[in-house]
Amino acid sequence: VITPVILSGGSGSRLWPMSRAGYPKQFLAIHGRNGSSMLQETALRAQGEAFAAPLLVCNEEHRFIVAEQLREAAIEPRAIILEPVARNTAPAVAAAAVKLAHHAPDALMLVMPSDHVILDVSAFQEAVAKAAKAAEKGALVTFGITPNAPTSGYGYIQRGSLWPGNLPGVYEVTRFIEKPDEATARRYLETGDYAWNSGIFLFSAGSYIEALEKFQPDMLSAARAALENAEEDLTFCRLDEEAFAASPSDSIDYAVMEHTDQAAVVPVDMGWSDLGAWSALWEIEEKDAQGNVTRGDVLLQDTRNSFVQADHAMVAVAGLEDVVVVTTDDAVLVTSRHRAQDVKQIVDKLKHEG
Ligand code: GDD
Ligand code: MG
Repeated sequence: VITPVILSGGSGSRLWPMSRAGYPKQFLAIHGRNGSSMLQETALRAQGEAFAAPLLVCNEEHRFIVAEQLREAAIEPRAIILEPVARNTAPAVAAAAVKLAHHAPDALMLVMPSDHVILDVSAFQEAVAKAAKAAEKGALVTFGITPNAPTSGYGYIQRGSLWPGNLPGVYEVTRFIEKPDEATARRYLETGDYAWNSGIFLFSAGSYIEALEKFQPDMLSAARAALENAEEDLTFCRLDEEAFAASPSDSIDYAVMEHTDQAAVVPVDMGWSDLGAWSALWEIEEKDAQGNVTRGDVLLQDTRNSFVQADHAMVAVAGLEDVVVVTTDDAVLVTSRHRAQDVKQIVDKLKHEG
């Protein structure tokens, strides 16, 4: 069986004003069809006989939100690992791997970000089943998405030949490049043999620990020390603050995936989307004849290709194209659909001005 390891440490600032530091996007039903939050949808897509109870890794400030959302979705976690400080994804996964390896070094872990949309869950589960065969043999498996734009916000995977062992649908990774600049990404797209890294990984706890031993020994010893001195009860496992804070801070992509020669890729078409910004939500939602996505009490006049969400007050837009308007009870965001990434800068400013 495979243990889902759900990463829920991001702040989701580009989805402000719905997503807030105290209550980031993964806890919201920003896309959820049945009112489930993105975290709940993530946990629910890795349920069934192939999967064990999930391990969650989150900031300690969010512990009650996470526990409550799991309870609401009727999911009993194996444990919720709490980070007293954020050290990015490589150390978060290291803590999960060390904890799992303690009982079973061969345990397979399916690392999942908690803020992605996957429309075709059975395609996802089939891909996981293929990947498991390679992970059992020591591969660090990634899931490759066919790119449709030279985005610099993703990792790029160059696909090689079939992975040794002739497992159907599993390929060697010739190169893994995290977040190349746009010009480089454009070249990759032209060659046709690159995929986006979905940010989902499958490997055994032992294989990941081995990779850390090679490439990030300090991260590994920090995770071990943070667990040795952790405060634990039935649900929560709070990492030791001093030990975990001493860990180098880096993402799994830069810290491990760019270096390892054990990487494999399973290409999968599963309606995947990283709901990073409002423009991404516009992309995947159903649009009216004018290309608009609206939610709540919205009135549009001669407006096209826009995303308008009203809450607490009616919103009317006339004569505009490609706009994003999002209102909540205490804030209003207006931006261009093409500049939706800039919302992050607004949030940074808000933070500094207190
Ligand atoms: N527990 C924990 N602790 N989770 C974290 C932390 C942390 O310190 N930092 C980030 N996360 C969680 C985020 O909540 C998110 O769910 C996931 O880890 C990935 O982090 P992001 O910060 O969103 O990464 P990214 O989007 O820049 O890049 C990654 O995802 C892309 C696809 O969406 C990379 O894996 C890229 O290669 C990939 O293309
Ligand atoms: Mg992301």
